Amino acid sequence: MYFSTRFLIKLIFLIKLNFSLKLNSLSVRDALSVINRGRALSVVSTIVFSLAALTNAFAEDEAVNPNLEQTSAKHLGVASCAASTCHGSTLPFVESNVLQNEFRTWNELDPHARAYQTLLSPESKKIARNLGLASAETSDVCLSCHADNVAPTRHGDDFDITEGVGCETCHGGAENYIESHTKASHQENLEAGLSKTENPTVRAELCVSCHIGNHTDRKITHTIMGAGHPRLSFELNTFSSIQPAHYQVDSDYTERKGPHNELQIWAIGQLVASEQLLTNIREFPRSGLFPELVHMDCLGCHQPMSKIDWAPNPLTNLAAGSLRYNDAHLLMSYQLAKTVSPSLANEVLGNTQAFLNGGASSNNSDKLASKLLNNIEKIRTSLEGSPLSQEQANAILNALINNGLSASHQGYASAEQSAMAINSVLRVIITSQDDASNKAALLGGVETMFKGVNNPERYRPEIFVAGLRKIQTSIK
Ligand code: HEC
Ligand code: HEC
Ligand code: HEC
Ligand code: HEC
Repeated sequence: MYFSTRFLIKLIFLIKLNFSLKLNSLSVRDALSVINRGRALSVVSTIVFSLAALTNAFAEDEAVNPNLEQTSAKHLGVASCAASTCHGSTLPFVESNVLQNEFRTWNELDPHARAYQTLLSPESKKIARNLGLASAETSDVCLSCHADNVAPTRHGDDFDITEGVGCETCHGGAENYIESHTKASHQENLEAGLSKTENPTVRAELCVSCHIGNHTDRKITHTIMGAGHPRLSFELNTFSSIQPAHYQVDSDYTERKGPHNELQIWAIGQLVASEQLLTNIREFPRSGLFPELVHMDCLGCHQPMSKIDWAPNPLTNLAAGSLRYNDAHLLMSYQLAKTVSPSLANEVLGNTQAFLNGGASSNNSDKLASKLLNNIEKIRTSLEGSPLSQEQANAILNALINNGLSASHQGYASAEQSAMAINSVLRVIITSQDDASNKAALLGGVETMFKGVNNPERYRPEIFVAGLRKIQTSIK
């Protein structure tokens, strides 16, 4: 079995960096070079698996569906953005609103630039063989998330699929904004097809379409996991800060694009991830008796039988031995509901429990998913209207810590999501605290917390909890 631990190891490293950024305010370029070294140090995982039975089990429709973009504009290719006077400068421009060295950051540091190359690796060849695909790099199944896989009718002259997840995969096809976007207002650019990636909901929908997968053009299944694909896990604010920043949030940025609020990015990210999961569960065909297994808690099935550490979890109400959905984002959405929409919180908890208990085994599943989806959309709408305040952030942080302390038996996926959430909320709260020794104590707690969850196959609840305790005593 293969799980990606690379990302969590890097995460611990970056948390240190994030905190030291706040302590010493390193320049962006220093930060990038540190991240680069971090990547070089990160563990190169090897795939170990034995699944001959899956050969040829995978017959996927090869249709390319429209992605999230609002336009059908052509994608012109990274080269079209990367001229030295455009986004291809080697150094940031001093007198420009944007850095202008975006290409260099993406090309040298951002894993998205290598996403297509990954499909040529021995690991990918093995996955493709196990799935009975001719090759990974020619299959829509893989290209849909590892490249800018828009329909051939939308390829501009310089379009090149080997560029991987490029500028226009995230920012939208440039056909109608390339000429005008340096002079036009942001609003005019949006109207010409630039995606509103600064908006947390738009960004979340973009990122989760690949990092969780969707039910249309970016599908991932347990069959693909069984063939050797790493487990996916995602938290919007954490991943937004790990992706090497090719943009700088400064005063002109907020003037053009509005306030940048990490707490809001985290919260909306949780809700959109829940919505994507529920939609996927509703829309994917069931695999025999079960819902598509990729939506379940991997460790619900993949753990040694001798490991008997079950304890009741009052939030899920599941009996011992129950099949479990990956409920991490859903439980986070409940924590948010308690703060954002208290009048809705009991209903959210009731519907979550009904879904988790009934959803896996009965054909009631779709109805229960729809009900919960409706609740979560309401919370998101109210949050979009009024972002979380500092007091609400404190309340959420306390709820997350208390939940972790009292439900230390929660599954790995939930603990992992809590750790990323607590880190995200702390990053916001900590700016109002000046006491350096206190910050160091918090950092120590965060590191310990992550050590508890840095390996999905060796979850150590006691270490996770020790980290939470340290954080709890250090919060003023
Ligand atoms: C078109 C699909 C796609 C979209 C959209 C996408 N990603 Fe990714 N992302 C990937 C793939 C594929 C990888 C792995 C690349 C590789 O190593 O081959 C990745 C890797 C990453 C990594 C590195 C993870 C690690 O383990 O080091 C981060 C961080 C990340 N993405 C953040 C984001 C964020 C934030 C967004 C939204 C703004 C986003 N991604 C949008 C496909 C996508
Ligand atoms: C739903 C989107 C999606 C699909 C479909 C998908 N991948 Fe991925 N893949 C990702 C993301 C996202 C990552 C990065 C995970 C992370 O680090 O968090 C990734 C990571 C990988 C990795 C590990 C890369 C590394 O740097 O360690 C390999 C290998 C891989 N994918 C191969 C494939 C192959 C082969 C296919 C087709 C059979 C495929 N992927 C289909 C989204 C997808
Ligand atoms: C994985 C998704 C992703 C990819 C790939 C990507 N970007 Fe971005 N980009 C973002 C996000 C998220 C932001 C921050 C939100 C925003 O301002 O829209 C951003 C911001 C920007 C900004 C805005 C800076 C500002 O001050 O307003 C520019 C310019 C930019 N990107 C250019 C590029 C270029 C050029 C490339 C390709 C070389 C690229 N991006 C690749 C996601 C991406
Ligand atoms: C309902 C139970 C169940 C869930 C949940 C589940 N799996 Fe599986 N998994 C299986 C079964 C059954 C097999 C086939 C084992 C075999 O062939 O020996 C399997 C096989 C695998 C394999 C191949 C292992 C091997 O021996 O070659 C991988 C990797 C894998 N799963 C990953 C995952 C990931 C990642 C998740 C979560 C997204 C997950 N699984 C969720 C039941 C499950």
